Amino acid sequence: MGTEEQTETGGVATASDTLTITDNRTGKTYEVPVEDGTIRATALRNIKVNESDFGVMSYDPAFMNTASCRSAITYLDGEAGVLEYRGYPIEQLAEHSTYLEVAYLLVHGELPNQKQLDEWTHRITTHTFVHENVRSFMQGFRYDAHPMGMLLASVGALSTFYPDANQIKDEETRYLQIIRLIAKMPTLAAFAYRHNMGQPYVYPDNELRYPGNFLSMLFKMTELKYEPDPRLERALDILFILHADHEQNCSTSAVRAVGSSQVDPYSAVAAGVAALYGPLHGGANEQVLRMLRRIEKKENIADFMQGVKDGKERLMGFGHRVYKNYDPRAKIIKKACDDVFEVTGVNPLLEIAIELEKIALEDEYFVKRKLYPNVDFYSGLIYEALHMPVGMFTVLFAIPRTSGWIAQWLEMIDDSEQKIARPRQIYTGERGRDYKPVSER
Ligand SMILES: CC(C)(COP(=O)(O)OP(=O)(O)OC[C@H]1O[C@@H](n2cnc3c(N)ncnc32)[C@H](O)[C@@H]1OP(=O)(O)O)[C@@H](O)C(=O)NCCC(=O)NCCS
Repeated sequence: MGTEEQTETGGVATASDTLTITDNRTGKTYEVPVEDGTIRATALRNIKVNESDFGVMSYDPAFMNTASCRSAITYLDGEAGVLEYRGYPIEQLAEHSTYLEVAYLLVHGELPNQKQLDEWTHRITTHTFVHENVRSFMQGFRYDAHPMGMLLASVGALSTFYPDANQIKDEETRYLQIIRLIAKMPTLAAFAYRHNMGQPYVYPDNELRYPGNFLSMLFKMTELKYEPDPRLERALDILFILHADHEQNCSTSAVRAVGSSQVDPYSAVAAGVAALYGPLHGGANEQVLRMLRRIEKKENIADFMQGVKDGKERLMGFGHRVYKNYDPRAKIIKKACDDVFEVTGVNPLLEIAIELEKIALEDEYFVKRKLYPNVDFYSGLIYEALHMPVGMFTVLFAIPRTSGWIAQWLEMIDDSEQKIARPRQIYTGERGRDYKPVSER
């Protein structure tokens, strides 16, 4: 799709869904189609000063205003605080669904009927084991290795165990990798945890449900069968549902960008895990907990908030690139906190968190910048109540996000408009310099 150049300046657009651009360098006017409120960046290339000119590019560091794909997976309205997977509001899914059903929905586009759900659940449940060499590979990590680093390496390593995974155009083969990825992430995550704890790795228990089996692999000791507390299992399932997808965020964009080279899905998902590892993305809930511990007691909140307003630090778990309203997931998590604390007893840090939120929601600094609690503000408190060390928080995010990453990856593979991701640059460096031997520099 290109621009339609008008020969005379000052031409008036005839159709209403176009944008008329006048290039004041040349006086030429161009008409650019507007589709879904968007113009094609490549349409700007027709705007040239002369024939040898490359054409106008758009400059958008951090992709603040660039759509990189068409997607029918997750709808997000940050101003209104709305989140939907495949059209279903997150609130309804959190209340009535399970993570495995949501994973099906994300990957297939529709909620499963009973037979489809049973089949999906059965296939995932029977792919939870990993090759024994994965286990020995993980045992090679240092005793204090960050579990997210272990997850990153081990999910990437899975590609070497399933070499046919690079057949990404073969529907049956790639479906098998999707099942494997969703099934094995909790196993890898739990092995990483047990490694840190210096405890023997626990094999999956296929009689338990997805979140219950995960809890079993984390916490089972000498008992013959681990019986998860149904309230904790449900809270974990809800957290998994809330974290399953969030459209084109940093890690999903990483999965798509790396996947666009047509690498296997394990390597693409490893890129997602790497992106999620960063403190500004999935690492934020870990930072929230560290922040709450540092604040220590309610009396220290005022000083801390002053530091935030003076720009010395950030109120972690607040603010979002897209949400300029209360993150709907934060609301659901806050409610889940109550259920979990009923089982585990109240965490004193919750009091500090509630007070911080109260102050921030009334303070002009936060109100003016539209900074509201995001999903990470309360999730860390639940994870802590489940006896997770902070290093595991991001891992607990990566497990459910795998279904979102893989649904996005699949959508990209089947999108005929997608090619290998390759942004442009504005070159700002030197040109045409002559090399000098080191003795002359
Ligand atoms: C999520 C985040 C990276 C989004 O960043 P962004 O869209 O690039 O927003 P900006 O960094 O441009 O912030 C806009 C303004 O709000 C301020 N701000 C943003 N988040 C803030 C926070 N958590 N605490 C204090 N101030 C914050 C910035 O200092 C900036 O103020 P300024 O206009 O006076 O310079 C950012 O809000 C943040 O770092 N939050 C804490 C980490 C976090 O919870 N991440 C999890 C996201 S799910």
